[in-house]
Amino acid sequence: MTTALITGSTSGIGAAFARRLAADGHSLVLVARDTKRLRDQATELHDRHGIEAEVLSADLATDDGIEAVERRLADRKSPVDLLINNAGFGNKGRYLEVSMADELTMLKVHCEAVLRLTSAAVEGMRERGRGGVVNVASVAAFVPRGTYGASKAWVVQFTQGAARDLAGSGVRLMALAPGFVRTEFHQRAGMGTDNIPNWMWLDADKVVTEALHDLARGKSLSIPDPRYKVLMGATKLVPRSLLGGITSRTGRKYGPR
Ligand SMILES: NC(=O)c1ccc[n+]([C@@H]2O[C@H](COP(=O)([O-])OP(=O)(O)OC[C@H]3O[C@@H](n4cnc5c(N)ncnc54)[C@H](OP(=O)(O)O)[C@@H]3O)[C@@H](O)[C@H]2O)c1
Repeated sequence: MTTALITGSTSGIGAAFARRLAADGHSLVLVARDTKRLRDQATELHDRHGIEAEVLSADLATDDGIEAVERRLADRKSPVDLLINNAGFGNKGRYLEVSMADELTMLKVHCEAVLRLTSAAVEGMRERGRGGVVNVASVAAFVPRGTYGASKAWVVQFTQGAARDLAGSGVRLMALAPGFVRTEFHQRAGMGTDNIPNWMWLDADKVVTEALHDLARGKSLSIPDPRYKVLMGATKLVPRSLLGGITSRTGRKYGPR
């Protein structure tokens, strides 16, 4: 029996990881801020799949929240074998339209929490000689796309570098870089989505299937879906000035502030 801890488990990509890992028989530790939603999710997954699902309410934009999850990951009596650092969000607006407080909150959740939780989990995994970490980034990491893309670029660089440092330890680290996925993300960020063509949308369950397949194959970066693999390959051939113009328009239409 293995245990997986998922941050941002209650919606979108995190909920898809929870469904899939529960169906595969893993025990789960579910992390997000909304306690009622977490409890309902834990009950549903337990009833449907007969697995143990723990609830850990934590706001990863705070030191207290990060410390609570670090403590759970460091618990040697109840080890976590797979960590999915998935919690994340988009701010409403472009650079300089967003308050510095909100920019720093994004860095706390996307970068500091990912660094600290990965480190807390990997210590024990290295001692046991096995384990996995999936850090959810975005294809926005590979194109000039505001501070969101910059934070996700950090996730990719950090994860691939750490994966290299831990090679041969039995611990696998992988950055997951999906394109547009239908979740609560865009609505929460106040982003309009009508300028995103239908073909660019991915299904969260398919993203998770491909991610877990890539993790099993030992990849340190997973770009789910052939369409995005081709697109990301093409970005290497296009000048960055042109790329910035194209990519900063798609899916970055913000409603009234
Ligand atoms: N959707 C896309 O198109 C897309 C594309 C590429 C990458 N991503 C990335 O995928 C990840 C998941 O996003 P999603 O699309 O599934 O979004 P989502 O549907 O909005 O889900 C976000 C999850 O994160 C939790 N969360 C948010 N802020 C948190 C905080 N401060 N502390 C703890 N939990 C927090 C939310 O629960 P609570 O509100 O209860 O805390 C929720 O469970 C994010 O890292 C996002 O950047 C998304």
